[in-house]
Amino acid sequence: MNNSVKVNVKNPYEIFLDSSLETIPALLKEYTNQKNIIIICDKNIAKKHLPLLLKSLINHGFSPNVLLLKASEKNKSIKVANDLIKKILKLEINKKTPLIALGGGIVGDIAGFCASVVYRGLPFFQIPTTLLAMVDSSVGGKNGVNTNAGKNTLGTFYQPSAVFIDVSLLETLSDRDYLSGYAEVVKYALLFSKEYFNYLENHRNLFLAKNHNYLINIVKNSCGFKAKVVEEDEFETNNIRYLLNLGHTFAHAFEAYNKYKPTLSHGEAVSVGMVLAFKLSYSLGICARENYLRIKDHLDLIGLPTEIKHIFKKINVKKIIKLMGQDKKNHSSLFTLILAVDMGNCVVNNEITKAILKKFFKEVLNGKL
Ligand SMILES: NC(=O)c1ccc[n+]([C@@H]2O[C@H](COP(=O)([O-])OP(=O)(O)OC[C@H]3O[C@@H](n4cnc5c(N)ncnc54)[C@H](O)[C@@H]3O)[C@@H](O)[C@H]2O)c1
Repeated sequence: MNNSVKVNVKNPYEIFLDSSLETIPALLKEYTNQKNIIIICDKNIAKKHLPLLLKSLINHGFSPNVLLLKASEKNKSIKVANDLIKKILKLEINKKTPLIALGGGIVGDIAGFCASVVYRGLPFFQIPTTLLAMVDSSVGGKNGVNTNAGKNTLGTFYQPSAVFIDVSLLETLSDRDYLSGYAEVVKYALLFSKEYFNYLENHRNLFLAKNHNYLINIVKNSCGFKAKVVEEDEFETNNIRYLLNLGHTFAHAFEAYNKYKPTLSHGEAVSVGMVLAFKLSYSLGICARENYLRIKDHLDLIGLPTEIKHIFKKINVKKIIKLMGQDKKNHSSLFTLILAVDMGNCVVNNEITKAILKKFFKEVLNGKL
């Protein structure tokens, strides 16, 4: 019996939790009768995991064509996507040729973008290799690239046909990237369930020990939370999917401020961003201080950054606020942020002014909050 989560969108698909590089080809055969397949693979894992996948694909009669990509925010660009598309179009393919993303969120986002535009949509499959990609980016159909106007400013909604997850791939992931992905796991608890946050708090040691069954469990729960949101709001047309941006307006501004350099990962930026979102909610009087302290405590114990000073020696607040305003989700002079009422209960607020943010940052940086 397969351990899976179903995503009931217009074209429903499954996330298989117990996949392995050896079993994926047999599953893939249930989706396609094509021989030729395209794999866009993270250069970093080409030696670690690609050989086994290729061997099992070939054993199942597939002819894989591999395109390698160095995963970096700089490479998540229209230029790199264009290069990949040109290479794809030179292959012997047709509109039914499957395209597989083997990598983290960067590879998944850009590969999904390519899959969505080549012949107006190739069948797309995700094999996420980072925790962040397993719990978040491989599910939900958001694809895209960064431009000078900001992160993910060019993209499409294009759901995968299936997602194959093998948590043992995380064994080769750096500790830093492993922890980064955890920020998105905590995000679901902060958004949707206080009980789930208690559970994460109580099982911190299993997470830090990379316990296999525990990982399957939190990946499954995270995919379940995300699937529900995506089912209700596939194209982010109402506030439900928007909630998933908890901490992200801060995070995207930090990433842009850091010029997308790898010294600050997306998950690290999200970790600080979520703590700030709860702190802001507390400073506006809509959320109790204990919540913010508890979240900070948990993320500190996990080893994620939780304060601005953990990620920047000093910051230019004016610039950060400007970047927050440029985040694609903010359309007017008022900022739209996700604020917290309680743990597991967050709301979209589109009435945050520049003055509120200025005062907030001043208090945070002066240690008054
Ligand atoms: N589409 C969405 O809904 C969505 C959601 C959240 C985040 N994202 C995007 O995801 C991106 C971040 O993704 P990420 O954190 O996975 O980063 P990433 O893809 O850059 O991977 C992080 C690092 O880990 C390496 N790596 C990947 N898998 C490995 C493995 N198994 N073993 C060893 N090394 C491995 C990569 O080469 C890279 O150096 C951001 O661009 C963010 O915007 C998208």
